[in-house]
Amino acid sequence: MQVNIPLKKTIDNSYDITIDTIPETYFDTKVAIVTNPKVAGLHLGYLLSKISAKELYIITVPDGEEYKNQDSINTILESLFNHRFNRKSMLIAFGGGVIGDMTGYAASIYQRGIDFVQIPTTLLSQVDASVGGKTGMNNSYGKNLIGAFHQPKAVYIDPYFLKTLPSREFGAGVAEVVKMAVTFNSDFFDYLESADLRDEKVLQEAIKQAVQTKAGVVAQDEKEHGLRAALNYGHTFGHVIENETAYKKYLHGEAVAIGMVMANEMAVTTGRMTENEALRVKRVLEKYALPTSYKIANIESFYETFFLDKKSSDTNVTFILPLHIGGVEMPDDIDRELVLKVLQNHGVS
Ligand code: NAD
Ligand code: GLY
Repeated sequence: MQVNIPLKKTIDNSYDITIDTIPETYFDTKVAIVTNPKVAGLHLGYLLSKISAKELYIITVPDGEEYKNQDSINTILESLFNHRFNRKSMLIAFGGGVIGDMTGYAASIYQRGIDFVQIPTTLLSQVDASVGGKTGMNNSYGKNLIGAFHQPKAVYIDPYFLKTLPSREFGAGVAEVVKMAVTFNSDFFDYLESADLRDEKVLQEAIKQAVQTKAGVVAQDEKEHGLRAALNYGHTFGHVIENETAYKKYLHGEAVAIGMVMANEMAVTTGRMTENEALRVKRVLEKYALPTSYKIANIESFYETFFLDKKSSDTNVTFILPLHIGGVEMPDDIDRELVLKVLQNHGVS
């Protein structure tokens, strides 16, 4: 005997991303703003001048990637239970990508899922992490290995918050902006080449273009069955660099910048990109003081670490390589010897 459960429902999870000053908004429900002490100290007053709710709580978790873990998730969940949040209650993620990922994940599992809104405060989270519904946390096996796809109900991107962002964090966000342009939009890349993101108007335009690019990709492939993996350009190499340096030497975006340069070298070697195109990308990264080189101590071990990547199979590594500027390919059949040859350019002699 078989019992069939017909589940082919189309659920509309569409949402708006507002890039502007946060509008004054009242939520007729219980709301918890999840943040950390640094962001709260700098900007909670401003947020509270814009947002109000039937009942409003603040949940604070420690600042830092090392706290993107189960303890912080438990802190959030405990507070929701203490305040008797129900399925109509809502969370607001107020901070960088760490807060956004954890708040989204807590929202995805609390009573099997409640709504949340993203209010990202770093450039990286405004152009990338707050958009697309990837939520999660780290564990002792690695980064972002536990999580869920859970789309926010809305995203409010207010460039005002970026005024207090340290320049290194700003650069890390620029790396993700460059990523979107190189892989999906050559006009956008030309714009980045000619403009300076430290100018307020240019920055606002770049945030808009990056968000539109990512939104377009997510709309086509929400759960990363194909195209969305292209947003990991630079990450295959970057994750190995972060891993080798114990997540301490480079910010994520900085490691991605080096990773994009390495991916471009592979794209040049395999005839996908010209040397001049690779140089143009490197120059844009250098304009924002992003690192573009890394000395690999052990090439074989660097190669083996590729296999920890979520896109790798037991035998093959998938590389995300630009196809000129504005295009992308994801080959999984690049010969090991060829990869090692490219890595040799960075080897410690
Ligand atoms: P982060 O959240 O750690 O923020 C960086 C630092 O800036 C922190 O110390 C934070 O407190 C501080 N900060 C935040 N806003 C500030 C402001 N306005 N002024 C001054 N300081 C401020 O790091 P991040 O770069 O925003 O995000 C990285 C995280 O995002 C990683 O965990 C990564 O895995 C995740 N991520 C997720 C996605 C996704 O699609 N979900 C995409 C990219 C990255
Ligand atoms: N940051 C990559 C993604 O959202 O898919």
